[in-house]
Amino acid sequence: MTKKTWRIGVAGLGTVGGGLLEFLAQRPDFAPAGDRAVITAVSARNRTRQRPVDISSLTWFDDPVALANAPDIDIFVELVGGSDGPAKAAVEAALKSGKPVVTANKALIAVHGAELAALAEAAGVPLLFEAAVMGGTPAVKMLREAMVGDDVSALAGILNGTCNFILSEMESKGRAFADVLKDAQAMGYAEADPTTDVGGFDAAHKISILAALAFGCAPNFAAAEIEGIDGVEQLDIAMAKDLGYRIRLIASTERTDDGVAVRVHPSLVAFGHPLAETRGATNALFIEGARIGRIFLQGPGAGAGPTAAAVAADIADVMTHAKRPVFQAPAGQLPPFIAVAPTRRVGKAYLRLLVKDQPGVIAAVSETLAECGVSIDSFLQKPVEDVGGVPIVLTTHAVAESVLTDAIDRLERLPVVLERPKLLRIARI
Ligand SMILES: NC(=O)c1ccc[n+]([C@@H]2O[C@H](COP(=O)([O-])OP(=O)(O)OC[C@H]3O[C@@H](n4cnc5c(N)ncnc54)[C@H](OP(=O)(O)O)[C@@H]3O)[C@@H](O)[C@H]2O)c1
Repeated sequence: MTKKTWRIGVAGLGTVGGGLLEFLAQRPDFAPAGDRAVITAVSARNRTRQRPVDISSLTWFDDPVALANAPDIDIFVELVGGSDGPAKAAVEAALKSGKPVVTANKALIAVHGAELAALAEAAGVPLLFEAAVMGGTPAVKMLREAMVGDDVSALAGILNGTCNFILSEMESKGRAFADVLKDAQAMGYAEADPTTDVGGFDAAHKISILAALAFGCAPNFAAAEIEGIDGVEQLDIAMAKDLGYRIRLIASTERTDDGVAVRVHPSLVAFGHPLAETRGATNALFIEGARIGRIFLQGPGAGAGPTAAAVAADIADVMTHAKRPVFQAPAGQLPPFIAVAPTRRVGKAYLRLLVKDQPGVIAAVSETLAECGVSIDSFLQKPVEDVGGVPIVLTTHAVAESVLTDAIDRLERLPVVLERPKLLRIARI
């Protein structure tokens, strides 16, 4: 039997696109059915830039939309990035012209997933995005395929390698956020504009996609509660350590009777917990299902090789005609995403206060918390020089976020408290 050759058009030849160029040049026959996948046409910004393999024989397009519309490609791969602009225009063009699309673009899927799914379904072609979450570690297929026989109740993970690298370095080297960020940029772990990563937005894109797959709804990035790591101070890392915790940027989602909550917060995770022990740029995810129980995935969340492997796995799905809705139901039948109000969260918390060095402070703080209905689990006071007061830290038993916010407002107004108390959540995993 003659093998079919699938002609792949790739827009974006940077880290991931370069990795895919290299992989398919070496292994065009990687897909299970035995057909071949060959990149025949490409698009990027700079035609003369050196790529990992010679692209002079490939058809070049300055405009990714023109590549997406080209009649002589069978699969369009989008590796440009960004929720809007050329990436979105090209994916829409490819779907409208009836081409299967593979993308690594989490921002695009988190923000426009439902409308793109409708386009894909109208054209009867797949829209696949394994590489968009956890890079080479197969979280999307895990939820889309392997877990459909279960009822997933919650997910929690470390989905941004840059943040985990920075937090790991802050802890192991005792250095400030801004210093470590500069090093991370110099080493290529962080972008020149780090906002998407350190602001928690990248992790929020990813957990929004996973929430949609886990709970069978459309992704709703706008409903995510997002807090980044730029406010994490060395003092919090040291205090948390004394209490037996490590700080991690935890992206989580759960389904409750009220709806779906999607959150990204720097959170305390107890030493010994697999998420606390996930260091450097590694990604990790807990999946909790009613029947399967708990599954823990850990692996590379970025990098040319691992991410290109995930893109290739999606290309193989197209080549083997794997058929599933983009999310868990046809786009028109996806139930609306009902977001849980942030104030409905119930969980344990860490509060750091800067107080005057005088007697009666602890009593004033404890009384205020008791009046608000916040029950204290532990107290820690640490002598620290040059901070203009005495830092004290307390952890609470589980408390509603609305009660906690009220307590923080009241603590801030106490004359012995010198600044607004700092809140970090204790991860419920
Ligand atoms: N890097 C990772 O490890 C990783 C992991 C998971 C997912 N992703 C996702 O994969 C996608 C690509 O990421 P990346 O790290 O490979 O990005 P990158 O290294 O910055 O590469 C982006 C590519 O897009 C091209 N490009 C930018 N604007 C363009 C335009 N207007 N028209 C045509 N081409 C344009 C660039 O061209 P030039 O090369 O000519 O400048 C470059 O080749 C993103 O959605 C990202 O979130 C990345």
